[in-house]
Amino acid sequence: MNIVVINGSPKGSNSITVHSMNYLEKLNCDDKFTYIDVGQRIKGYIKDISPIVDSIENADLIVFSYPVYTFIAPSQLHYFIDLLKKSNLRLSGKFCTQITTSKHFYDSTAHRYIEDNAKDLEMKYIKGLSADMEDLLSEKGQKELRDWFKMVKWSFENNYYEKFDRLVSSYQMKSATIASPYTGVRKGDVVVIADYESINDNLALMVKRFQAVSDRNVRIIRLKDISILGGCLGCFNCAVSGKCIYKDGYDEYLRKEIQSAECIVYAFSIKDHSMGPKFKMFDDRQFCNGHRTVTMGSPVGYIINGPYSEEINLRTILEARADVGGNIFAGAATDEVDPDAEIDKLAKTISYILDNKVSKPQSFYGVGGMKIFRDLIYTMRGMMKADHKFFRDNGQYDFPQKRKGTIIKMYLVGALLSNPKIMKKAGGAMTEGMVAPYKKVIKELNT
Ligand SMILES: Cc1cc2nc3c(=O)[nH]c(=O)nc-3n(C[C@H](O)[C@H](O)[C@H](O)COP(=O)(O)O)c2cc1C
Repeated sequence: MNIVVINGSPKGSNSITVHSMNYLEKLNCDDKFTYIDVGQRIKGYIKDISPIVDSIENADLIVFSYPVYTFIAPSQLHYFIDLLKKSNLRLSGKFCTQITTSKHFYDSTAHRYIEDNAKDLEMKYIKGLSADMEDLLSEKGQKELRDWFKMVKWSFENNYYEKFDRLVSSYQMKSATIASPYTGVRKGDVVVIADYESINDNLALMVKRFQAVSDRNVRIIRLKDISILGGCLGCFNCAVSGKCIYKDGYDEYLRKEIQSAECIVYAFSIKDHSMGPKFKMFDDRQFCNGHRTVTMGSPVGYIINGPYSEEINLRTILEARADVGGNIFAGAATDEVDPDAEIDKLAKTISYILDNKVSKPQSFYGVGGMKIFRDLIYTMRGMMKADHKFFRDNGQYDFPQKRKGTIIKMYLVGALLSNPKIMKKAGGAMTEGMVAPYKKVIKELNT
């Protein structure tokens, strides 16, 4: 087989992920493996894609190999997907699959991103492999890798691939209008990070309207005005000090101008089922902030141009990001139905949350995500010093073994439950016992 590996890791041949492909290459001598380093060479390919056109068009199988970066693929791969679509290469009917390494934090949304784009390109998609970054080091991980690749080849030989229901988009952009500005005295500080091309775009109008109707001071920062020299390189230079290897001042700017606001609103146009490569670059570079949930407690909102309600994966990503960060998802105003009303509602919702200091518990998105972070940071605390300090200082090391009281109580309950005589006598007292502390809360409630 003629296999082309699209290496989306900015670490190039030092990518952990691509080593899984190197492993498979060594075991599959009859197949030809060609590697295309889009993670490192994306700028060159954007200028001139011709050196790789033949390889891609003649491939039997394309493998997207990349690290999961901030819920999706690295910005460099976002640029490449955009390039593939623009270049009109002959990809329709071609087989593709994907392999990632990560800590399984939102690897599922990353995989869905590639799946959705493979569908757009009319490629025959075979389910990918999501490996932990250490899997290749264990016999179990190696077997899983070999099993996956054998099955990919078997699927190819049998012409088996994932069938996609083609979604017919019902999206028709509705124009936003500028509103008369709020007349009261504005308070607070809300920042909008906006990625629009021209001030006449609908997204720009939506942002302007948000600024006009809000009762807060709204600062609009255009993404193009933020100095970002390039995408995250995954070099971990920031792990100890939080200082990025790039000398573009992004890390300082992020902390002083953006994270200092009482609420952050992101405004973007949906592109390739994501927020667009530039926005992804902005997001990936926030790795200089490690896993520190520095804006927790504050609301976060979105202003979106495009068919957001049809983008289930993107919706999951945005809501999960807020949840993991301990932010309150104030909503996403889109231009699908009634942008004016939605923007007004978003502005009011943000103010309501801020004025009333609304707090809310995390859902599975946040609770599950934070458990992965907690275990990761604890294990890597020797290196991720800034993260470790933050997790320790903010009580985020909530390991179950620390809950000694509950553990002892459960031993007692277990002993009672395993005694048939006591159980018989207790009758329905079990549920009564469980609900007793809740009853106490209601009883002692002062009205
Ligand atoms: C900017 C950045 C973002 C990351 N985001 C995630 C993530 O969302 N989920 C996850 O499980 N791991 C995440 N990681 C960890 C990488 O996925 C992991 O280290 C991967 O194995 C690196 O692969 P590579 O060597 O092929 O680049 C992130 C790492 C970096 C540098």
